[in-house]
Amino acid sequence: MNAEDLKRMAAEKAVEFVEDGMTVGLGTGSTAYYAIKAVGRLVTEEGYELTCVATSLQTERIARESGIEVLDMNAVESIDLTIDGADEVDPSLHLVKGLGGALLREKIVAAATDTEIIVVDSSKVVPKLGTRSPLPVEVLSFGSDHTARKLRALGCDPVLRTKEGEAFITDGGNLIYDCHFPEGMDHPYHLEMKVNTIPGVVENGLFLDVAKKVVVAHPDRIEVLER
Ligand code: 5RP
Repeated sequence: MNAEDLKRMAAEKAVEFVEDGMTVGLGTGSTAYYAIKAVGRLVTEEGYELTCVATSLQTERIARESGIEVLDMNAVESIDLTIDGADEVDPSLHLVKGLGGALLREKIVAAATDTEIIVVDSSKVVPKLGTRSPLPVEVLSFGSDHTARKLRALGCDPVLRTKEGEAFITDGGNLIYDCHFPEGMDHPYHLEMKVNTIPGVVENGLFLDVAKKVVVAHPDRIEVLER
C-alpha cells in the first residue's frame, strides 16, 4: 500500500458521512482531492443532490470537472459537513493546515461548518504541533518584511513561500510565511492570539477546536478519531 492509497482510503471513509441533501464543504490538497472525486461519484452515479462550496480555486476546478456544481460561499447559510486535509494533527485533534496555501478560505469554510472532518494518512499524526510542519501564516504584501520581523520575535524562523522562483500568491492575493518553530509549538492558543494581533497577518494555519472527526489511514486500518 502506498501513500496515495492511504490518502484515498481516508478520504473515501470520510465521504461515507455525506448524506443526500447536505451542504458540503470541499477541502484542498492531495488527500481532499480523493474526497472531491468520491463526492462527484455520489452526484453523478448515485443521484445525490448536494450543495457544495470550495475552499480554493483549485478545488472549485476539480469539483466542476468531477460533475459537482459549486456555489459561492455567500450563497449558503451554513455547511453541514466539510471534508478537508491537514498537515499535522495532535492528540487533542488540533491541526496545522495551509501547506497547500488555502488556509484562509479553509478557515472561513470551517467556521461556517457544523461537522469538520479531517482526512490524513498516519504520517500527519504528531505528539506536538510544529514537529513535522512549519506554521503557515498568510500576510498582506504591504509591509510584509515588517510583519515577518514581528513573526520572528515570536521565536520562529519565518520563510517566505515561493513557487517557481517567485513569491507564492494565495487565492486572496496575499503572501505566506512558513514559520519554523525549532522546538514545535508548546502553547498553540497563546501563539495563535499573538500571531493574530500582528498587523499585516491575515490568517494563520492553526485550526484549534475545529475538527469534529479525524479519519486517519494507517497501513493496516482506518481509524476515526472524534472530539
Ligand atoms: C491546504 C491544506 C491541506 O489540507 C494540507 O496542506 C494537506 O494537504 P495534503 O493532503 O496534500 O497533504 O491545508 O491549504
